[in-house]
Amino acid sequence: MEGLFIQYKESVKLTDPEIKQRNETKELIQSDIRKLYANSSLELFGSSANGFGHSKSDLDLCLIMEDDEQTDKVQIIEDLVESLKADVKYRRVVGIKTARVPIVKLTISRCNIDADISLLNSLALHNTNMLAAYNDIDERLQTLGFILKYFAKVCDMCDASSGSISSYAFIIMMIHYLQQLPIPVLPVLQQLGDRSVGPVVNGWNCYYFKDIRNLYEVWKPVERNRMSVAELWIGFLKYYAMDFDWLTDVVTIKQLDKLTKFKKWWTSKHVAIEDPFNLEHNLGQAVSGRMRTYMLMRFQRAYKHHTKPKHWKHLDELINEF
Ligand code: CTP
Ligand code: MG
Repeated sequence: MEGLFIQYKESVKLTDPEIKQRNETKELIQSDIRKLYANSSLELFGSSANGFGHSKSDLDLCLIMEDDEQTDKVQIIEDLVESLKADVKYRRVVGIKTARVPIVKLTISRCNIDADISLLNSLALHNTNMLAAYNDIDERLQTLGFILKYFAKVCDMCDASSGSISSYAFIIMMIHYLQQLPIPVLPVLQQLGDRSVGPVVNGWNCYYFKDIRNLYEVWKPVERNRMSVAELWIGFLKYYAMDFDWLTDVVTIKQLDKLTKFKKWWTSKHVAIEDPFNLEHNLGQAVSGRMRTYMLMRFQRAYKHHTKPKHWKHLDELINEF
C-alpha cells in the first residue's frame, strides 16, 4: 500500500517546470490586470503553492489592491470580466459577485488551465503558507494529502459548492488527525512561540511558527512518530469513521484541546471544521445530515476494506473499491 501511495503522489504532483509555468501564467494575467489597476498585484495560493498541487488542479489567484478597505468589489469584478472577456488569451470568463469571496473564473487558452481570481482574499495567502509549512515538517503529510484528495474526489464528496467540503477542508482534517495522535506527527504551529507578534489580517491573528528548521528546539514531542504512511492512512479512516464525535466536536488545527460545537455556537451544523485563522468560518457549513451520513459511510467502508490483509497491486484496485 505504502509504495502505491508514494508512486501515486510522485506521478501527479506538480513538477518544478509546471510550477514555473504556473508562476509565468500568473505574471501574464497580472500584467493584463495592471492595465486596469496599475497598483494591483496577483498572488498564487491554494494547491499551486501549498504542496498539494496536482497537474490538473485549478490555479487559485488572489488580487491585492493598494487600499483593500476602500475598494468596490462588485465594480472590480465587472471591470475585470469586461476586460478579460475581450482578450483571446482567456475563455469562459465569468464573474461571481455574490460569493463570500467574490471571484472571476476563467480558462487560460494556452494551457487550458482553469483559474479563479479572488478579490482581496489575504487570509487565504496566510493559510496557504501555513499548509506549506506543515508540509515542510513531515513529508508523510503530502503523501496522505494526495491520497485523501483522490479518495474524496472518487467518492464525490469534495465540492463545497454542492453540499460537501473543499480539498482545503480535507487537508485540515488530515492535519488535525496527525496532531492529536498520542505520538504526534505534527505540532500545533499556531501555539508554538509568541502569538502576540501577529500579523493581524482582517481582524484575525494569522500567527504561526515559521522557523521550521529549528522546530525541534521549541517542539518537544515525547518521541518521534515512526508510523508508516499506510498505518497513518488506516488510522485516519478509523479516527473519522469511529473515534471522532461528529455530533458534538469541531475539527480544529489551532489547538490540541477538544473544541465543541457548543462553544462555537455551531450546534445546528452537521459537520464543524474550523478555519485556522477566520475562526467564525465553518468549512463544513454546507454539509447536510444526509451528506454527513454518506461521508461517514465512505470512511467506514474504506477502513474495513483497507485493513484486509491483501497485497494491492494497483492504486485503482484500492481506490475504486472505496
Ligand atoms: N480556501 C479558504 N477557505 C475555504 C476554501 C478555500 O481559505 N473555505 C483557500 C485556501 O487557501 C485553499 C485555497 O482557497 O488552499 C484553494 O482551495 P481549494 O481549491 O479547496 O484547495 P486546493 O488546495 O487548491 O485544492 P485543489 O487542488 O483541489 O484545487
Ligand atoms: Mg485549488
